[in-house]
Amino acid sequence: MNKTAIITGGGSGLGQTTAFYLAAEGVNVSVVDISEDSGNETVEKLKEKGVDAIFIKADVSKVEDVKNYVDKTLEHFGSIDYFFNNAGISGSGKKFLETDIQEIDQIVGINLLGALYGLRYVGEAMLKNGGGSIVNTASSAGVIGQASVVTYGATKHGIVGMTKSLVAEYAKDGLRVNAIAPGPIQTPMVKKFFEDNPDMKESAEAGIPQKRLGQPEDVAELVTFLLIKADYINGETVRIDGGFTNTK
Ligand SMILES: NC(=O)c1ccc[n+]([C@@H]2O[C@H](COP(=O)([O-])OP(=O)(O)OC[C@H]3O[C@@H](n4cnc5c(N)ncnc54)[C@H](O)[C@@H]3O)[C@@H](O)[C@H]2O)c1
Repeated sequence: MNKTAIITGGGSGLGQTTAFYLAAEGVNVSVVDISEDSGNETVEKLKEKGVDAIFIKADVSKVEDVKNYVDKTLEHFGSIDYFFNNAGISGSGKKFLETDIQEIDQIVGINLLGALYGLRYVGEAMLKNGGGSIVNTASSAGVIGQASVVTYGATKHGIVGMTKSLVAEYAKDGLRVNAIAPGPIQTPMVKKFFEDNPDMKESAEAGIPQKRLGQPEDVAELVTFLLIKADYINGETVRIDGGFTNTK
């Protein structure tokens, strides 16, 4: 029987490309996103690739929406084998002391609480079914300190922490939980961030030993490996950044 994955932020960027890579492995996908148009578009493309896929609209920062995407996935597919806990926003890139409280709350709500709510309810469903495999999306800003991303960096360091602690608590019950820490990857989110902050694009490229930004395909390959193959990797945060954070 085919396995099933939930991907939050599955309508765009890293989530969408990973959905296509998982489909190539025969995995059915619940595409969860706040954006209906891009979520439905991803589902159509997944069906063309021969797997079953559904779109579930959700704001991951709302716990009722999170419960609903878990329930709808179980209703349609019967189990959740893989979870790419990935939806996130970058924020404005303003200096921390110039940032509105509303923006701080929004970033924490989506990136940190949204990820925890997902783990809470998907983790429960997975354990009832004997276990499962999870990849949480952190960031370079989750493994080193960087200017202009104080709140974002706090949420992404949180992702690294929750990944390790979940393993301490539930690896014995069959949960495998890892995180990825991508450097700048050319997704719509990053394109917009660099349009708003052009000086940061130049300095990002200059600071990467491989002298190129990452592509969504680089990340999708890693996430697919971690989710479906890496049976003895647990609690790890894998940096995927062309050498950026390891040479800081
Ligand atoms: N692209 C990068 O360079 C990069 C680097 C490090 C980490 N990340 C992280 O990767 C993840 C995906 O980012 P991306 O670059 O693919 O961005 P993206 O903007 O292309 O995709 C993010 C998706 O998440 C959805 N989303 C946003 N808020 C949501 C919410 N509240 N509820 C449900 N869905 C929501 C968006 O609609 C979008 O489809 C994020 O967590 C981001 O922080 C990205």
